[in-house]
Amino acid sequence: MAKKRILTGDRSTGKLHLGHYVGSIANRLRLQDEYQCFFIIADLHMLTTKQRREDIEAAPQNIRDQVLDQLAAGIDPNKVTYYVQSAVKEVYQLNLIFEMLVTVPRLTRLPSIKDMARAALIEEEQMPFGLLGYPVLQAADILLPRANLVPVGKDNEAHVEITREIARRFNHQYGEVFPVPDVMVPEVGTLVGIDGQGKMSKSLNNAILLSDDAKTVEQKVRGMYTDPNRVRADIPGKVEGNPVFIYHDAFNPNVEEVNDLKERYRQGKVGDVEVKRKLAAAINAFLEPMRERRAQYLAQPGFIDDVILSGNRCMREVAAETVRMVEEAMGLTYLRD
Ligand code: TRP
Repeated sequence: MAKKRILTGDRSTGKLHLGHYVGSIANRLRLQDEYQCFFIIADLHMLTTKQRREDIEAAPQNIRDQVLDQLAAGIDPNKVTYYVQSAVKEVYQLNLIFEMLVTVPRLTRLPSIKDMARAALIEEEQMPFGLLGYPVLQAADILLPRANLVPVGKDNEAHVEITREIARRFNHQYGEVFPVPDVMVPEVGTLVGIDGQGKMSKSLNNAILLSDDAKTVEQKVRGMYTDPNRVRADIPGKVEGNPVFIYHDAFNPNVEEVNDLKERYRQGKVGDVEVKRKLAAAINAFLEPMRERRAQYLAQPGFIDDVILSGNRCMREVAAETVRMVEEAMGLTYLRD
């Protein structure tokens, strides 16, 4: 029996960090055997908030970095399809059809759209039509390969719900073409940044990158936010919600060591220096296999580009088939030769 399909991906924002790993890459690694996976680099979605020439010029390198980071993390380029959104023109077609199947108020009410506008310093009166349509384009991404499952972060859950509504609406109106895809969100919440102030994000400058070298990791961990009330090592500290221990739990497989550190931290019997030294060592051990794989891929010039170009071709075939099915279901087939 044919494998069920996954579609998921990211905007073309460049290098990935530990938050991406916990929130999505770990799931992709786990699912790559069981499903036929399509991983999109959504450069058109990037245009909804960043459309300056410099943003577009930065896209190709960002896209290469993102794919390399994922392959270095262990995703098998022979199993999955990576493709660039703008290289598969059928998504523009599906997007327009889907625009007819969702109401403006449904989109306007979405908190995620307001959040993105706020983050991009866009005032309500300046809301681009395309940003309002962000979830519709995302529905086109998901339904283009007729995906069955969409693993995404919590912040994208509502967009998959819109996708499900559009799929049902289309099927009801024109006949069964699309599966109604399920959403999968990771149980772990988003990873806090090294500044402890909010989620890890490159733009907030509080991220540890998957491509950081060992020295950089040590330096970033040394500067991490911990319990602000603990001004001396002999004062009992708070473990819960403390970024240093959140990271220990996430990346240090030595549970005994972690429990010992927590115990002593609570009693005021361990310094931040030791906690952080052990954390940096754990994160570096976690990243080391990625560094090796990255070096192997980088030793093959053109490899990443080939992965993307052949992924684009593969996706184009699937996409053409879907658009044909859509046009036939709708009867949008007249006066053509
Ligand atoms: N909206 C996703 C993000 O937050 C990126 C994305 C675009 C996506 N199209 C998708 C995710 C389709 C899952 C499925 O960056």
